[in-house]
Amino acid sequence: MEFSDVVRSTFAVRDFVPSTLPDEVLYRILDQARFAPSGGNRQGWRVLVLRDPEKRRRLADFARTPMQEYIARRKAGEVPFNTVVPTQITPEQIAAVTLRFPLLDHLDDVSLIPVVLVVAVDLSRVASFDSMLSRIGVISGGSVYPFVWNILMGARNEGYGGVLTTFLSPREADVQEMLGLPAHFAIAALVPLGKPRKQLTRLTRDAVEDFTRVEHWDGPAFKP
Ligand SMILES: Cc1cc2nc3c(=O)[nH]c(=O)nc-3n(C[C@H](O)[C@H](O)[C@H](O)COP(=O)(O)O)c2cc1C
Repeated sequence: MEFSDVVRSTFAVRDFVPSTLPDEVLYRILDQARFAPSGGNRQGWRVLVLRDPEKRRRLADFARTPMQEYIARRKAGEVPFNTVVPTQITPEQIAAVTLRFPLLDHLDDVSLIPVVLVVAVDLSRVASFDSMLSRIGVISGGSVYPFVWNILMGARNEGYGGVLTTFLSPREADVQEMLGLPAHFAIAALVPLGKPRKQLTRLTRDAVEDFTRVEHWDGPAFKP
């Protein structure tokens, strides 16, 4: 595929048709993803390749409560889990949500989702230049998410798809224990991979003019 087509059509795939994803293809995807940048080129990412349905069912169970809370916050008109505006929702509102999220129901179905990747990052190898600020850190993620995105673009290029999910993080300690990860390996993403049921070609994204300003915050939008 053309680079431009891959970039413009790699979308969040949560709905899959039955397929297999051979180890050779997965290896090829990871072999290209490893050229992602990371702070100091430390390459602190680690990938657990999960085909075992039982482990994947447990991971799906871990993710249900965080997803329930995410939906409750969204229903209440919040931007879920943002660190600027405190949440107003109550445990009762969270408990009242009936979770309908087929991706989690199918996570242990190896015919629909042949592979699940858990991507962790070694925090002892990541330089977090913003760690002394009082706001939430954003730089640490920069040493792992370009790698995860390369996996998704590589999968698209091979006719597969997946989605970068972060819903496991609230249960990080349980995931670390289950998969044997040391405590300084942060769980950055869970990525299911398979054949998309449909292929989106026009993704909903803001125009360049919407997110750029020239020279100053009050400056004009950047235009060609
Ligand atoms: C940092 C990050 C965290 C995300 N976490 C989740 C998640 O926990 N669950 C989920 O279903 N999708 C998750 N997504 C996927 C986004 O919802 C998706 O990329 C976005 O809605 C764009 O979708 P589209 O490419 O299909 O338009 C995450 C994406 C990013 C970049």
